[in-house]
Amino acid sequence: MDKFVIQGGKPLYGAVRISGAKNAALPVLAAALLVPGTCTFHNIPDLVDIKTIKKLLKNLGAEIEGSATVRINAEKITNAEAPYDLVKTMRASVLVLGPLVARRGEARVSLPGGCAIGARPVNLHIKALQDLGAHVTLKKGYIEARAKKLKGADIYFDIPTVTGTENIMMAAVLAEGTTVLNNAACEPEIINLADVLNGMGAKITGAGTDVITIDGVTSLQPVEASIIPDRIEAGTFMIAAGITRGEISILGCNPQHLEALINKLRDTGMSITSIAGGLKATGGERIKSVDIKTLPYPGFATDLQAQIMAYLSVGEGLSVITETVFENRFMHVSELMRMGADIVIQGGSAVVRGVPALHGAQTMATDLRASASLLLAALVAEGTTEISRVYHIDRGYQSIEKKFSALGADIKRVK
Ligand code: EPZ
Repeated sequence: MDKFVIQGGKPLYGAVRISGAKNAALPVLAAALLVPGTCTFHNIPDLVDIKTIKKLLKNLGAEIEGSATVRINAEKITNAEAPYDLVKTMRASVLVLGPLVARRGEARVSLPGGCAIGARPVNLHIKALQDLGAHVTLKKGYIEARAKKLKGADIYFDIPTVTGTENIMMAAVLAEGTTVLNNAACEPEIINLADVLNGMGAKITGAGTDVITIDGVTSLQPVEASIIPDRIEAGTFMIAAGITRGEISILGCNPQHLEALINKLRDTGMSITSIAGGLKATGGERIKSVDIKTLPYPGFATDLQAQIMAYLSVGEGLSVITETVFENRFMHVSELMRMGADIVIQGGSAVVRGVPALHGAQTMATDLRASASLLLAALVAEGTTEISRVYHIDRGYQSIEKKFSALGADIKRVK
């Protein structure tokens, strides 16, 4: 297993180009299952999770080629099963459920296990599929769904679930009649998916709001489309500029997707300005404390909570960070404390008391965004930090050590 070895203390300067969004590419690749033909998608990031979903789609009978540009031909779906050994490595595999039921009338998808950040049930996906008329049973850890023809329905999500909204949107595009998703998630990745589906001939309106209407069609055609930039990767580099008190031009990002973070970073004393092709983030003299509450989009992204905690841990005064989306997304706290951070968890909140400096330590990544948080802390910590189990970070960040080295960081990947 690889580890990162990082010497802290160097302000980062330069420009970084943001890759395509992992959480947009995953549902878009799954959507290709709906089309008996070849779809072409550009700006696909080179990540472990993308390799995983490609393996799963090939398992189902799709032919796939290419990396940054992917051509996927789902003419022949020879199998409707997403096996446990694949799904357990990536929960987002559940995104093949909706397309398979819509295209083939059946699906057998392993229940995704929990993960470090929470139980992460998929009960809302299942209930909504039943609302569309699918017969769904849970057998031996698998979701077994069947439907001769899905029927449009009025659906209400108890919680605005991102992949739940995506799964059901993909199921509903070939249903008979109209489906309305109420309390739908509003993330930019959902808009990207809806644009791709509409490009295939679907009739979806309202994506990006909490009410999405889908008028079912009888078939879909191949499409060529691009994946939006990764707002979480962009946010991670903005915070890197702040924590190292450097200045980074973040190219290819979409500032509109980052408004909650931009406002908070400005409140801490950073300067964030629009430049041609993206944003420029400049660290401030001081890091003033701010309170953070994670919420579904357009609120502050839970996927940036660990990263901003590392930043605030070397700020001034007290910052209260409240995580409202997942029940156990503070795994990075104990690792940050080993580097000298002063953080107390009280229920769903972490009270961060800024310290003058962190010190290097041996640490271990527990989940994708926690590992990004440790990397940010290591960039500013005095001395050497080792981060083990970096396979977590490879799932969601393309060539992260190369991108940080190009900005002046002293970071090495050690086998
Ligand atoms: C997506 O996960 C993202 N993953 C996550 O990113 C992200 O953290 C999350 O949305 C929230 O923004 C992908 O898009 C592949 P949810 P998802 O369904 O869809 C509860 C990363 O780092 N819930 O919006 O699984 C759930 O437990 C990953 O890239 C149910 O109770 O998240 C959570 O508390 C981590 N039942 C809340 O809803 C359900 O059926 C929001 O989860 C579904 C969800």
